[in-house]
Amino acid sequence: MIETTYGVDNNPEMKEPLMEGLGLCTSSKMQPIRDLVAKVAATNTTVLLRGESGVGKEVVGRAIHKLSPRAAKLFLKVNCAALPGELLESELFGHEKGAFTGAYRQKPGKFEAADGGTLLLDEIAEMPIRLQAKLLHVLQDGEFSRVGGEKLIGSDVRLIAATNRDLEAAMRAHQFREDLYYRLNVIEIRVPPLRERREEIPILIEHFRRRFNAQYGRTVDIPADTVRVFMEYHWPGNIRELENAVKRIVVLGSARPVHQEIVASLARGPRTMSPLTAAVAATVNPDQVVSLKEIARQAAREAERVAIKEVLDRVHWNRAKAARLLQISYKALLYKIVQCGLVNQDDKEPEAVKETEIMAS
Ligand SMILES: Nc1ncnc2c1ncn2[C@@H]1O[C@H](COP(=O)(O)OP(=O)(O)OP(=O)(O)O)[C@@H](O)[C@H]1O
Ligand SMILES: [Mg+2]
Repeated sequence: MIETTYGVDNNPEMKEPLMEGLGLCTSSKMQPIRDLVAKVAATNTTVLLRGESGVGKEVVGRAIHKLSPRAAKLFLKVNCAALPGELLESELFGHEKGAFTGAYRQKPGKFEAADGGTLLLDEIAEMPIRLQAKLLHVLQDGEFSRVGGEKLIGSDVRLIAATNRDLEAAMRAHQFREDLYYRLNVIEIRVPPLRERREEIPILIEHFRRRFNAQYGRTVDIPADTVRVFMEYHWPGNIRELENAVKRIVVLGSARPVHQEIVASLARGPRTMSPLTAAVAATVNPDQVVSLKEIARQAAREAERVAIKEVLDRVHWNRAKAARLLQISYKALLYKIVQCGLVNQDDKEPEAVKETEIMAS
């Protein structure tokens, strides 16, 4: 059983309910991935999903589960970046009553709940090193104990891990265990960015248009010139960004504002510089001569802004987690967010979308 956040399967307006997820990924770049998914689904091997944020790693993970003999059991997901270490351990392995302050009753973790099914560990690179040791142990022995407990519990779970980080660099920096890396990386699937499989864009636009029209009770069309502009854009946020763009069009009832935003972004060109080079370039204005000291100060501030934004995006704007990763206090981070003028894109969504999403979650 897959826990799905939207009811495509039950929606009478969707005439092709099977055309979703990987079924939409018809490009030549995705064909080898579809083949690999079909091959690994039947086995119990651990799979490591890699690729930029929003490319559809979770969609691939769900497809593996759906095609596997475990399809009738649960598919569960844990985002390792969303919880601090102690809570993440309890989320994964459960806890006994009284294990820590607030543990009023015994609670099984996701490893127990997903018994017979599949568990997706998202943002695996963010897992604290101590927990990585416990995870490795579980993968090797198939047994674990709940937090605060001694009894060994066995669980038959197929593990899929996902990350958009450079795990090899994390390993070299001693932030990711080498033995766990090799244990997880039995089969690696690299999901390419959307800009490398542009032929999927019209199909995805149509899929999202129909889905959001049905969800919001609209009949919005997307003009051919908007589809053309979408085909040219570089989509740094990949399919998630495309999905949100179509959602905004449907909610606003017009493609114009989103179309114009994309045209403006195309005129600026894709970001090809590294964040640091861009940060330095942003501070140097050939028309205004300033001291080298001032350039250094401005570049440092800009680099800080870029780094904070990247970390916040990576942890889905979980500010407590971001503060820990950046090794500054929560209060200092809040101050810097305001100082740098950073805005969570999700908070800018139209109210109608936010309300519906709250209801759907
Ligand atoms: N092939 C697809 N068909 C339909 N929707 C898709 C497809 N691929 C991705 N999406 C949608 O795009 C969004 C991002 O997909 P997903 O969460 O799988 O990406 P991800 O690679 O796991 O991203 P992140 O690294 O941020 O966790 C989701 O809302 C998902 O439903
Ligand atoms: Mg994901």
